[in-house]
Amino acid sequence: MSTPETAQLVRAGGAHLPDALAAVEGLLIEAGGGNGDVLRAHAQATIAAGGKRLRPLLLLLVAGEPPDQATAARLQRAAAAVELIHSATLVHDDVLDGASLRRGQPTVVALAGREMATATGDLLFARAFALLAREEDPLPVRILSEACSGLALGELLQRADAWDPGVSLERYLLRCELKTARLFEAACRLGASTEAPDLAPFGRDIGLAFQMLDDVLDVSGPAERTGKHRGADLLDGTITLPLILARERDRDLAALDPREITTPEQAEAVCRRIAETGALEAAREHALALVAGARALLDAHAASLGPGRYEALGLVAESVVRRYS
Ligand code: FPP
Ligand code: MG
Repeated sequence: MSTPETAQLVRAGGAHLPDALAAVEGLLIEAGGGNGDVLRAHAQATIAAGGKRLRPLLLLLVAGEPPDQATAARLQRAAAAVELIHSATLVHDDVLDGASLRRGQPTVVALAGREMATATGDLLFARAFALLAREEDPLPVRILSEACSGLALGELLQRADAWDPGVSLERYLLRCELKTARLFEAACRLGASTEAPDLAPFGRDIGLAFQMLDDVLDVSGPAERTGKHRGADLLDGTITLPLILARERDRDLAALDPREITTPEQAEAVCRRIAETGALEAAREHALALVAGARALLDAHAASLGPGRYEALGLVAESVVRRYS
């Protein structure tokens, strides 16, 4: 949260935003506590590991300046809940993927094993709903639980399609929609009100672009830049957009059985081959088109958003793209 771009974004988002984000941080730290020192250490380290707080920002920006203290507190709890769900899914995802590195740090599963990592994810997940359960209105719980069902379905789809090199573009997009876009969309829904415009489609499109670029980064590397090992998806049997597009351009890649990729060195070599086909640029174009569409949606709501929020949400969309460039 400390790059020049995020500083510009927070400035544009409104005078209330720095305090709101600080309050969200406080709620996150508090939520990581309890249930013993070991679980607290892993939960709080996960929360502190340099996440960009993109989803809370989105929620707070969609909501705009709250009319009163009670609304502000409600929005901050919802923003913290979304980030807790996001953190929980990453901890669980690393268990499922057997990933050793995230955000440049050893994962909870690498440090403490599957049981502890599963429990850490469970704690973060439960705390998210505990925050929302304070509301009288059941809608936020409904929005977030629907998004979580989508996340779980997306993950199941990914497992069902694992090692299948012929997975279609449509199936890949459905997976991205479920496992990533739904939470971005939920952040927008949680921030929406009768006064705020419906920006759920904006959240969906930047969420999809986010996942596509994440999949590009897995192939492009390097680990020093991405905080994750290059080719991890290939080793895990996860077929993503770069390989789907590269298979159309390279016969050897089209004939490749992903089960034959068993070492990080082999995965690196396949990543290089995918890059040589130009598929990374093509995948990036897909993501850029989605972000352009998302920005067009913002344009349509420019008047009701006002110049500051319009600019800040545009910067959120740009920040998704900037991860790659
Ligand atoms: C990261 O994607 C993972 C997700 C976006 C969703 C993971 C979902 C689950 C583990 C199931 C649902 C869990 C809960 C708690 C609701 P990625 O593997 O493509 O990204 P990465 O490269 O950062 O690992
Ligand atoms: Mg993963």
